[in-house]
Amino acid sequence: MSQVAVRALPVASGQRELTKIFSGVAKIVAKERYRNFCRLTFRCPEIAGRALPGQFVNLYLDGLRSETEFERLGLPMAAILPRPFSIAKTVPLRKGEIQSDTPQALSVLFEIRGIGTNWLAQLTTDVPVRIAGPLGKGFWLPEEAKVAVMVAGGIGVAPFPFLAEKLKRQGIETILLLGAQTKEKLPFDPVRAEYPLMRNGRPLSYWGVDEFESIGVRSAIALDKPEEGFFAGTVVQLLEAWLSTQKERNGIVIYGCGPIPMLKALAKFASANNLHCQVSLEERMGCGVGICFGCSIPIKDGGYKLCCLDGPVFDASEVDWEAMRNA
Ligand SMILES: Cc1cc2nc3c(=O)[nH]c(=O)nc-3n(C[C@H](O)[C@H](O)[C@H](O)COP(=O)(O)OP(=O)(O)OC[C@H]3O[C@@H](n4cnc5c(N)ncnc54)[C@H](O)[C@@H]3O)c2cc1C
Ligand code: FES
Repeated sequence: MSQVAVRALPVASGQRELTKIFSGVAKIVAKERYRNFCRLTFRCPEIAGRALPGQFVNLYLDGLRSETEFERLGLPMAAILPRPFSIAKTVPLRKGEIQSDTPQALSVLFEIRGIGTNWLAQLTTDVPVRIAGPLGKGFWLPEEAKVAVMVAGGIGVAPFPFLAEKLKRQGIETILLLGAQTKEKLPFDPVRAEYPLMRNGRPLSYWGVDEFESIGVRSAIALDKPEEGFFAGTVVQLLEAWLSTQKERNGIVIYGCGPIPMLKALAKFASANNLHCQVSLEERMGCGVGICFGCSIPIKDGGYKLCCLDGPVFDASEVDWEAMRNA
């Protein structure tokens, strides 16, 4: 089997660079539906080969008829703005004989919400879709990092399969904490965790996430609405419970993605416990490439940064959380 050089994560925020953007058409090669979620995999070596975890793609809705009414504004503009999605995974795509281990396909995992995601979820394999990426700047791995904790709220888990694989390849101990309001709102089927995260001799959650457990990433699930076998509470409370089991806190890095109220709580917790924390922000976007200035993120020094160019991943300590919209 050919050996492929693993592109390491940058070690500092400032070392991240914007990647050359591919803009073109990619065919859907696989589709999975689960509850209110959908995963689409596109054959697109140009993006898959360059992408790093935390970067995103824009999907364009060209096939959506332009006279479709845009719900909120009542204008026929549903198809104008692309829809941004984190790159959930890159895969080598092997057909018959192994051709290459270089990533040739990428998948996005999304919650079906409005007109665009409803349309995308109806597409089938072999359909060509206009795509642009990789966009934005993703996660980094500080040199002192020893343990990575990915903290996800619901579909905020989307960028983490890609990140988890990268971290594992770089030899970092990695765990996933996933939170949702109820079991029905989990983007993955829970599985019995083989090696659950423990506290006082008992699992924090008997249930884990198959997608992560299968690559050796231990996981735990928190539900707001208590249910047997799951951690009862928010995912930030689950993080607090896990942290209480750790003697050594140096070298712990937190990666967060999810709704803004959850990220606010996470940033506050990380700051209070002196933990390095990066967050991926899903600010509403227009162009996704730095032209429209529609995705500004308030920064503590009083200025703004653009989510699509300077992020979507930010150091949690630089964001002015008081000024962030909750949307
Ligand atoms: C960098 C980034 C990465 C994202 N990654 C994912 C992901 O991996 N999985 C996932 O399920 N969702 C993700 N989102 C949110 C996703 O883009 C929206 O859910 C999606 O655009 C909704 O489109 P819609 O047409 O169905 O909804 P509508 O509400 O009909 O969309 C109307 C407009 O609002 C924008 N919009 C609506 N909701 C959001 C939102 N939460 N964030 C940003 N823009 C929004 C749409 O892009 C569109 O321009 C991401 C957002 C950003 C900015
Ligand atoms: S979305 Fe247009 S500048 Fe960021």
